[in-house]
Amino acid sequence: MTDDRQVEKELVKSRSRLDELTRELTGAELQQRGPDDYWAPCPFHTEDTPSFHVRPRLGMFKCFGCGESGDVFSFVQKLRGIGFREALEFLAERAGVTLGSLSPEERRRQVERKRTREGLDAASAILARALTSSATPALRYMQERGFEREVLERFDIGFVPGDLIQQLGRGGLRPAEIEGMGFTRAFVGRVSFGIRDPQGGLVGFGARTLEPEGKPKYVNTRDTAAFNKSRLLYGLDKAARRMSRSRRAIVMEGYTDVMMAHQCGLEDAVATMGTSLTIDHVKLLRERATNVVFVFDGDKAGLGAAERAVRQCLQQGLECRVLVLPDGADPCDWLVRHRGDGFEELLERSARSSVAFLAERMLALRDARQPGVREQTAAEVLETTATIVDPIRRAGLIADVARACGVDRNLLGRGAGRELSVSSMHSDRRPQRPAHTPSAGLRAQFVAVAGLATELDPTAAAAASEEIELLIRDGVLVHEGALRLAELGRALGPAPVDPSEWIAAVAEHAAELRPWLERVLLPPPTAAPLPAFHEAVSYLRGSADRAREQQARRDALSRPDIAHDSAALAALDASLRARSEAAAGTDHSSTATPGAP
Ligand code: UTP
Ligand code: MN
Repeated sequence: MTDDRQVEKELVKSRSRLDELTRELTGAELQQRGPDDYWAPCPFHTEDTPSFHVRPRLGMFKCFGCGESGDVFSFVQKLRGIGFREALEFLAERAGVTLGSLSPEERRRQVERKRTREGLDAASAILARALTSSATPALRYMQERGFEREVLERFDIGFVPGDLIQQLGRGGLRPAEIEGMGFTRAFVGRVSFGIRDPQGGLVGFGARTLEPEGKPKYVNTRDTAAFNKSRLLYGLDKAARRMSRSRRAIVMEGYTDVMMAHQCGLEDAVATMGTSLTIDHVKLLRERATNVVFVFDGDKAGLGAAERAVRQCLQQGLECRVLVLPDGADPCDWLVRHRGDGFEELLERSARSSVAFLAERMLALRDARQPGVREQTAAEVLETTATIVDPIRRAGLIADVARACGVDRNLLGRGAGRELSVSSMHSDRRPQRPAHTPSAGLRAQFVAVAGLATELDPTAAAAASEEIELLIRDGVLVHEGALRLAELGRALGPAPVDPSEWIAAVAEHAAELRPWLERVLLPPPTAAPLPAFHEAVSYLRGSADRAREQQARRDALSRPDIAHDSAALAALDASLRARSEAAAGTDHSSTATPGAP
C-alpha cells in the first residue's frame, strides 16, 4: 500500500509543473531566464523585485528573499495552509490522476524497481563490510591514495569479495534478481565505487583493479534498467546541492577525480565515466548550472575528450570552459599533490573559454602563418556556436574567437550568424553534409517552429504544436532562438497568413529573432523552397536518432571488454545497423502523418 502511495505521489509530481502552478495560484507573471530557470515575486513575503526562484524540471522552488523552499506539494501546502494529503488530492485532481487506482503494470514495475534498489543496497553493505573486515589491501590502497575515511563512506567505497553472489543469495535474493544487478566475475578482488542517480538511489558500481598495471583498470555494472553510463553523471547526487547555489559544474573524467574534488571542498564536481559527453549529460548539466568547466586529464586522450565535450555542449547551446592542468596532470593527482590549494584560482585564471580552447587546438595543427588560415579557423570555430543567438553572449564569443585567432573582431562580427545556408534537407535519406551540421539542423528547427504559425490550418496546428512539445521534451529542438519562438508562438496564438506580417508581430516581442526568421521564411527566390513542417520534423528526428546511434557505437567501442573482442564488435555493429535502419523506417512513415502520436 505504501508502495502505491509512493508511485502515485511521483506520478502527480511529474505531472505538476511548478511554473504553471505559480502562475495559476498566485496570478504572478514568471520571467524565464533559462531552460529550467523562472523568477516571480515571492508569494510568501512582500517584495518588489522577483526573488522567488522556480525550477519546474527539478520540481523545486526557493525564495532568496525569505528562504521558503520546497517541492510542488509543500508549495501548495504553504500557499493554502493545508496538509500534505489535501495538497496531494488537489494536485492529483488537477493532473488527472485518480488516487488509489494504479494499473497492475504500474504496480509491477514499481515493485521490480524497489527490489532492484534493495538488492543494490544489500550489495553495497556487503562491499562496505568487506572493505574494512577482510585482510585485503583495498582500504590501505585507497588511504594511500589520500582518501579520508569519511569520503570513502560518503562515496560508497567497498571491496568485492569472492563470495559476493553467494552472500547475496543467502540474503534472500533470487538468482534472476542478482543477475539483474549487473555484476560480473571480473568484479571480484577489486575496490568498488557505488554509483547513484541524481535522486541519490544506488544504480550500479564501478570497480578498480588493485594491481598497478591491472587490465582493465575499471569494470562497471552492465547496462541495466537503472544503470546507463551515457545518462548518468558520477557524483551528481552529492554535487546537486552545491550546484544549485554555485550554478557551477566542474566536470571531470573519473571516479577518483570527483572523490578527491569533494574531499578538497569542490562539491560541485561530477564526472562522465570514461564515455564521451552525451546529449543527456548536457541536459543534466544545463538544468543545474550556467557555468560549466571541464577539467579533464591533460594527456592526449583527455584533451581529445575535452574537445568532443566542448563541441557537444556548443551544439546543444550550452557554453562552457576548459581547464587544462599544468604538466598534463590528472585532476585527482593534482589535487592530492596540492591538497586542493589554488584550484579555485587556477579555474579563474587559467580556464579557457570553449571557443578559445577549440581555436587553440585547431591552430596548433595548422600553419597559422599562411594567409587566411587564422580567418578560416575563426570562421570554423564560430560555426560551432551557431546555436547561441543571444546577442550579448554572441558578442562575447566573437570577441573570444577573434582574440584566440588573432583576427579583427569587426571582421567576424559582420559575418557571424550568417552560417544559415540552404541545406541538404531535401536530398531525402542521406544528406551530403554530416547530419549534425548546425546550419541544416538549425534551419530545420526554425522551420518546424515557424511552420506552426504560417503553414497550417487550425486542426493541423494543434497536432503540430504537440509535435513541437515532443521535440522539445526529447531534446531535439534545443536552439535558444527556436525555443523562444515556440514560446512566443504559443503566446501570440493564430497567426496572419502572410509570413512577413507574422515576422513583424514576433519582432515586436523579440527583435533579435527577426533576422533569423527573415532568413528562414523569406529566402531569396534562388534558394531551394522551404521544406514543409513535417519534413523539418522528420529531419530533426532523423538526425537526433543518427547522433544517438553514433554515440552508442562510440560508447560501446570505448568499453574495454568489447574493444578487444572482435566477435562482440561485429555483433554490436550488426545490431546497431539494424536499429538505425529500423529507426529510419519509422521516421519515414511518421513523415506522412506529422501530428500522429
Ligand atoms: P581514467 O583512466 O582516467 O581513470 O578513466 P582514473 O579515474 O584516472 O582512475 P585512477 O585515478 O587511475 O584510479 C576515467 C574514467 O573512465 C572510466 C572510469 O569511470 C574512470 O574513472 N573507465 C576507465 C572505465 O570505465 N574503464 C576503464 O578501463 C578505464
Ligand atoms: Mn584520470
